[in-house]
Amino acid sequence: MSNPRIYDLKANELYPGFLIKEVNKSLGYYVKKYKESPDILKEAIKYSVENSGKRFRPILCLLTAKSLGKDYRAVLPTACAIEFIHTYSLIHDDLPSIDNDDLRRGKPTCHKKFGEDIAVLAGDALFAEAFNIIIKYQIADDRTKIKILEEIADASGASGMAAGQIVDVYFTGKKISKKKLEYMHRNKTGKIITASVRCAAILCGVIDDYLKKFTEYSENLGLAFQITDDILDVTSYKRIAGKTIGKDAIQKKNTFPNIWGISKSKEIARDKIDKAIAVIKSMDIDYKWLVNIANFLLVRKV
Ligand code: IPE
Ligand code: IPE
Ligand code: MG
Ligand code: MG
Ligand code: MG
Repeated sequence: MSNPRIYDLKANELYPGFLIKEVNKSLGYYVKKYKESPDILKEAIKYSVENSGKRFRPILCLLTAKSLGKDYRAVLPTACAIEFIHTYSLIHDDLPSIDNDDLRRGKPTCHKKFGEDIAVLAGDALFAEAFNIIIKYQIADDRTKIKILEEIADASGASGMAAGQIVDVYFTGKKISKKKLEYMHRNKTGKIITASVRCAAILCGVIDDYLKKFTEYSENLGLAFQITDDILDVTSYKRIAGKTIGKDAIQKKNTFPNIWGISKSKEIARDKIDKAIAVIKSMDIDYKWLVNIANFLLVRKV
């Protein structure tokens, strides 16, 4: 894999590293678009987008198209738009008023590098520009395009990522039920991951039963993703993860390991991945990479 932060051999085999380059090339094209913008904003956008991120969401989007026998380049703009939204969410997540993190993807966080004011605004810009990428560059008929925009707006908004993040910050240091914890994870992280799969499927013309199956696959993946992120916050290393480790416990965050314990959390993640794999294997598609990337979540170190 071309990602220097992923060392684990098993994880390497399961992750389609060849797509990282493809995504990065395309992201590089979009970040050069803001010629009229103030230099500091251009810099902050470039700094935050161009780095050693795994590109999990855009890659999932491309793999979904690939599983349907389509040229994955057909969904690249949407894949990049989703990475813009993810990057914005990380910039804001790291702010002193939210998680107060200094390190992201092996580098100082956006606010550490540029100041809090610039970081807030760079996040705002990335969020809006994500929609612009789809509007301007995604080839699709207008109805499909609106559907994609709706999927992403829903996944990010008041019944999506923002809702999950609100539960995260509001209940930090307070007791939370298992049901609420799952709601938080499904929203703050799961919904954008589901949108990554659903948008590609919709762009490839998938409807009804198959769209439902892709949804079920990606919902299980999304929840497993945040559970494994919580586990890595206990078990990984700063040098590998590229972010500060052990902070969830210090900050009294509600996480799967905190509430269920590490080994039960691993079991739950395994169960979600098994469910995702079972549903994707029940489909008449080329599911190899969608199975691999699901299994990757259980062995990832970053
Ligand atoms: C981290 O996301 C934030 C969560 C939603 C858990 P990733 O683990 O995908 O981070 P990058 O993009 O690879 O840096
Ligand atoms: C982040 O969750 C979720 C979003 C950014 C929406 P975390 O706060 O656990 O992510 P990390 O651990 O900082 O990457
Ligand atoms: Mg957070
Ligand atoms: Mg965080
Ligand atoms: Mg985390």
